[in-house]
Amino acid sequence: MPPALAESSTLPYSPVEVASRFGTPTYVYDAATLRARARSLTGRGATIRYAQKANNNTAVLALLRAEGVVVDAVTAGEIHRALAAGHEPADVVYTADVFDRDAVEALHRHGCPVNAGSPNMLAQLADAGLEHLPVTLRLNPGFGHGHSRKVNTGGTSSKHGIWHEQLEAVLTQATSLGLSRVRGLHMHIGSGSDFAHLHHVCDAMVAAAEAWKAAGGHELEVISAGGGLPIPYRKGEDEPLDLDRFFEAWTEARDRVCAIVGREVELEVEPGRYLAAEAGSLVAEVRGTKTQGEGDDAVDYLLIDAGFNDLLRPAMYGAYHHLEVFAADGRELTRERDYVVAGPLCESCDVFTQGDEGVVQSRRLPVPEPGDLLVIHDAGAYGAAMASRYNGRRLTAEAMVIDGELHEIRAREPIDEQLRYEHIPDQLQ
Ligand code: LLP
Repeated sequence: MPPALAESSTLPYSPVEVASRFGTPTYVYDAATLRARARSLTGRGATIRYAQKANNNTAVLALLRAEGVVVDAVTAGEIHRALAAGHEPADVVYTADVFDRDAVEALHRHGCPVNAGSPNMLAQLADAGLEHLPVTLRLNPGFGHGHSRKVNTGGTSSKHGIWHEQLEAVLTQATSLGLSRVRGLHMHIGSGSDFAHLHHVCDAMVAAAEAWKAAGGHELEVISAGGGLPIPYRKGEDEPLDLDRFFEAWTEARDRVCAIVGREVELEVEPGRYLAAEAGSLVAEVRGTKTQGEGDDAVDYLLIDAGFNDLLRPAMYGAYHHLEVFAADGRELTRERDYVVAGPLCESCDVFTQGDEGVVQSRRLPVPEPGDLLVIHDAGAYGAAMASRYNGRRLTAEAMVIDGELHEIRAREPIDEQLRYEHIPDQLQ
């Protein structure tokens, strides 16, 4: 018998039920939120291309496909995932700055369009006999922005994209290589950016369209403003997104581009986090509390069974996630305390409450008992997708709430899986 349910006002599921059915830590995604986010973007005259790096679980990809959302793919593995979820090869754009051989093979097999972020990729397409594939050019517009310097993808300190001033030369190169379907421009300046910076992309796109026209390039059929839409991680502090404002700016840029090239040009946007982040949370179990130091210098730790191998964002970017404690037996939690919330890994930075420079911070939370649950909110994007087996940990289970019911969409990895591809040579036996 599962224990009594602890209901939450903010979650569409009971964390206690999740823990008893799937164990912890477990990611839970809400289908209704994913659909609502998709529907807030579709029907506005733009193609919505989901950056599946945010969350490439096939159930998520299938749900978004049913909403008319197409996808990008950064690797052969992501092409494979999109196709397994029912996306058509023509709807999967392979976006990268370098090809690896797996990707070349996948493109041969499936013929997906390519968004090329380096001049070498064009030569490699031609070398591989893939001149016929539709190609867009990812430009680095010379500036970037994001919630952390680690996710800024523009300017000279970013490896991403073809430098904007090289557009003419690259178009000439493409023609001489016999690439017959170079058809679009793409820019992505970073993640969790703000309106001012994303608006700047519109001007850069118009300038790039002028350069395209001047270079006498092929017909310009599509422009993509990339992703990077922010979400309100800090409840009650971060402004909710004014989508109308973004679409107004993007549509106006598209119209200016159409006027420059004298034809209809399709607009694409490519969000990852906006679609998936708020739909997901990570349910972990409280395994203990302890105090380091004494008196005024004392620091209280709340220790959970999820680590940065499960959710890397706080350790990697100092990212903030809203935390909530639930009593496993439904009792009322009346006392509060400032806690540093930490995981089980053998690393000092395995802490979910820290700032940009890795400075450990405390968070005011109800005082739990071991066995209670801690929910990490807004973890649907760049959560499970960035998980690892560090310290011999198993990849986490994932579940989805569909019409009020919980469904497992990825089983917790069995420990044996870790040894599956390892061999001890006879010489060492
Ligand atoms: N398009 C391209 C070409 C991208 O590289 C990305 C993200 C996106 C779209 C989607 O960006 P979004 O809308 O999700 O911000 N791990 C980091 C984010 C890295 C994003 C990498 N590229 C994080 O957890 O914040």
